[in-house]
Amino acid sequence: MKIDHIGIAVKSLSEALKVYEGAIGLSVGGYDQVDEQGVRVAMLKIGDSRIELLEPTGPESPITKFMTKRGEGIHHIAVEVEDIEKTLETLKAAGVRLIDSAPRQGAHNTRIAFIHPSSTHGVLLELVQHGK
Ligand code: CO
Repeated sequence: MKIDHIGIAVKSLSEALKVYEGAIGLSVGGYDQVDEQGVRVAMLKIGDSRIELLEPTGPESPITKFMTKRGEGIHHIAVEVEDIEKTLETLKAAGVRLIDSAPRQGAHNTRIAFIHPSSTHGVLLELVQHGK
């Protein structure tokens, strides 16, 4: 296992990139838009891992709702897994509260599922399985 990426909620990708790309010097590996999650995404490479900047696409976006409550900042930590179905079954058996009981489509040919922060001591965890 490794940390696949850390998701950061931002109001504006272009404003955030001035700091993360322009000042800190990370480079963007790709952009994406995931309409069903209401986000535009910029992925920045950092070693073997990545920082995922998340800009909401509208007022109904979960990222808008998050920022209304908590402001900009770390939104989730994503853990790469080999077999997301198997991991979800293990978590269910352990009584962990899941947001997604089955995987859904993520950005860049991934399958993802979120674990509820009430089961992970306040951190929204995302499981990621990369496509072959
Ligand atoms: Co993510």
